[in-house]
Amino acid sequence: MKYGFFDDRRREYVITSPETPLPWINYLGCEAYFGIISNTAGGYSFYRDARLRRLTRYRYNNAPFDFGGRYIYVRDEASGRFWSPSWQPTRHEAEKYSCRHGLGYSIIGSTYEGIGAETLYFVPLGENLEIWQVTVTNGGKKPRRLSLFSSVEFCLWDAQDDSTNFQRNFSTGQVEINRGVIYHKTEYRERRNHFAYFACSEKPAGYDTQRDTFLGAYRSWDNPAAVERGRSFNSVANGWGPIGSHHVRLSLRPGETRRVIFVLGYHENPAGDKFDPPGSQTINKKSVRPTIARYVKPAAVDAAFESLRQYWDRLLGLYQAKTPDRHANRMVNIWNAYQCMATFNMSRSASFYESGIGRGLGFRDSTQDLLGFVHMVPGRARERVLDLASTQLESGGAYHQYQPLTKRGNNDVGSNFNDDPLWLIVGVAAYLKETGDWSILDAPVPYDNRPGSETPLFEHMQRSLRYTLERLGPHRLPLIGRADWNDCLNLNCFSETPGESFQTTTNKDGKVAESVFIAGLFVLAARELAEIALRRHLASEAGEYLSAAARMEETVCAHGWDGQWFLRAYDDFGNKIGSKECDEGKIFIETQGFCVLAGIGLKDGMAQMALDSVRKLLATPHGIMLQQPAYSRYYLHLGEISSYPPGYKENAGIFCHNNPWVMIAETMLGNGERALDYYLRINPSAREKIGSVHRCEPYVYAQMIAGKDAPTHGEAKNSWLTGTAAWNYYAVTQFILGIRPSYGGLIVAPVVPAAWEGFSVRREFRGVCYDITVSRKGRGNSVHMTVDGREVEGNVIPLPSAGVGRVAVNVLLS
Ligand code: BGC
Ligand code: NOJ
Repeated sequence: MKYGFFDDRRREYVITSPETPLPWINYLGCEAYFGIISNTAGGYSFYRDARLRRLTRYRYNNAPFDFGGRYIYVRDEASGRFWSPSWQPTRHEAEKYSCRHGLGYSIIGSTYEGIGAETLYFVPLGENLEIWQVTVTNGGKKPRRLSLFSSVEFCLWDAQDDSTNFQRNFSTGQVEINRGVIYHKTEYRERRNHFAYFACSEKPAGYDTQRDTFLGAYRSWDNPAAVERGRSFNSVANGWGPIGSHHVRLSLRPGETRRVIFVLGYHENPAGDKFDPPGSQTINKKSVRPTIARYVKPAAVDAAFESLRQYWDRLLGLYQAKTPDRHANRMVNIWNAYQCMATFNMSRSASFYESGIGRGLGFRDSTQDLLGFVHMVPGRARERVLDLASTQLESGGAYHQYQPLTKRGNNDVGSNFNDDPLWLIVGVAAYLKETGDWSILDAPVPYDNRPGSETPLFEHMQRSLRYTLERLGPHRLPLIGRADWNDCLNLNCFSETPGESFQTTTNKDGKVAESVFIAGLFVLAARELAEIALRRHLASEAGEYLSAAARMEETVCAHGWDGQWFLRAYDDFGNKIGSKECDEGKIFIETQGFCVLAGIGLKDGMAQMALDSVRKLLATPHGIMLQQPAYSRYYLHLGEISSYPPGYKENAGIFCHNNPWVMIAETMLGNGERALDYYLRINPSAREKIGSVHRCEPYVYAQMIAGKDAPTHGEAKNSWLTGTAAWNYYAVTQFILGIRPSYGGLIVAPVVPAAWEGFSVRREFRGVCYDITVSRKGRGNSVHMTVDGREVEGNVIPLPSAGVGRVAVNVLLS
């Protein structure tokens, strides 16, 4: 069953039924002001930080799931009937409902009783505001008198406090209404210099700012008292629940169309200039008025929308592929790249499955996300790398998360996730290969944000490696700490108390449990750092890192191999995890994918054996499961992984994040068929046709698909914010299509199915546009290349001389 279709030309997904199995969402904003919007206009907005600067309120896990958002009501003055063009919250049976989720915007609308109304929602580049442009058309033969009502529910800024501290918050809410603009200024009187505003292009006939007056005390958003009676109450919020609602009257001739623009924004005043007149308690509106005046005009909205389109054209234009597979094309060229930008902006903080109040930006998450977006926003990637590294500790360890507003490490979660520091090396290496910006390695970066503690970034990376080497266990494998990539393998936790955090509770001294996964990651990171060191003429350091990598590889082969696959770990008793000796959890995906990806076992057949075991024991038609057999009960010594029912999440779910590790591993063994096959099993576009099984959005990856042990095998969960975005993008663009940056130039190393006759890629790299055409001559993966008509040895396109802007590359695969 499908709930819509891809409009590839407009780069939109068009939802044609509002009753999708789950809310199908999109993100607004690309820089500092962000919003989440569902296909029925649900969602919320914030400035920089979904927890600390929340503009609008949202009630999570609601019934219905998604309720509350950017709602518009249309009321027919003659009949008194009213409805919302976005279907929610009134849920009228509309004709022609559609939601077009595009890149940074959504257009949601429908037709009801002859009145067409659709709203374009987007955030203009460079602004801290969102536009709601409502276009209303009288499609009938009679003139119509209509009322429009807008609505937002303000959040009192700190979303955590807002949803818990009612004894205070019911008394703090404050607004101002001035020239038709509603200003939300709770706490502005004291330590906040920011306020929100909600403006309208028309002179409103009325307004409301007190929620319970607008709705009526016992009503909800589906039947607001003001809308029902057709007239605002002009209520002024004092405490309780501040909202913003305008009432706009419209008369439309048959066939007439009108645009009404609402602007919801965030503004900061300098601390010394908050009030006008000075000494009063009235917001100084001088600096915000010009912005408001500008964006309530259609011409400014059109221009801003056009700039947004150009912005995405430019970003996506950096890598465009034409392959024989339309799902690959669509994901690579549009949606996967777009999702990578969402993970850049949000990390794992705000989605319909991350409340925005729980997590800030994760260290391992954001460093891995770099793989997916560094080519699109290298300047911002640089800033992100430096922000992340500034939360590293002097020991080389790292805060697991930080808050985007303060950029400080999050003390509640702390550190000791022993894989974290190594991802910094992986992320920086990707940045360097893409940009060639070696200066980043000399940038002074503090530890734990402490002024005076700065060392060059390069030293942070060295400390990352040392952190692992200083924490080796009985088999000389890395100690796991609180957890490695798999947050749910909590081998030092031993928690028997309900409600304790699996990830932060530690009941063991942590000197025994070891991670084969971190060993694989270490091998990769140490080799990356060695290559970087060599290029900085640090030959002896490079030598050290290479021998540390070689020693670790030997250790993995000696103590991390189970005969037919890589072990996963050793527990606190020194027993194997992920071994044929185990009753449950005999084989795990992480080490099969990552050890091979790191180059372990490529020469001696171990890699091939490990991947064959994956195919035999873990692969399903819906993707590759995390482990098998699933844990059927809670194991004290394993932690959260065994807390999930079989088939879900880390307990034998198809964790999409590490499926691409296996895809990459397959390409390293030259198996193009297998790599693409795995790629298509979890590709959301390829799964569109099984929408009622998959249930999540068909245009973005979800974190998980239920594994074969689950009653809902094939059902996706936790869409949008997942490392799956970056890793799949990286796997398909850099290893299957095989166009990947290296220090010395762009590498061309496709590993595609024998049946593919060829493909082409347009890739910008360090300011040069490469047009790469690959054609098949034989069935293998050997590359014969001509660059601008000249034969080139090997498969690295030499960096062109200065001034060359375009390079044509022809590749024969044989
Ligand atoms: C989830 C993990 C996640 C962790 C974050 C766990 O409940 O299963 O996927 O990484 O929470 O803290
Ligand atoms: C999601 C978390 O964000 C990520 O850090 C972790 O690696 C995976 N879950 C696996 O547990």
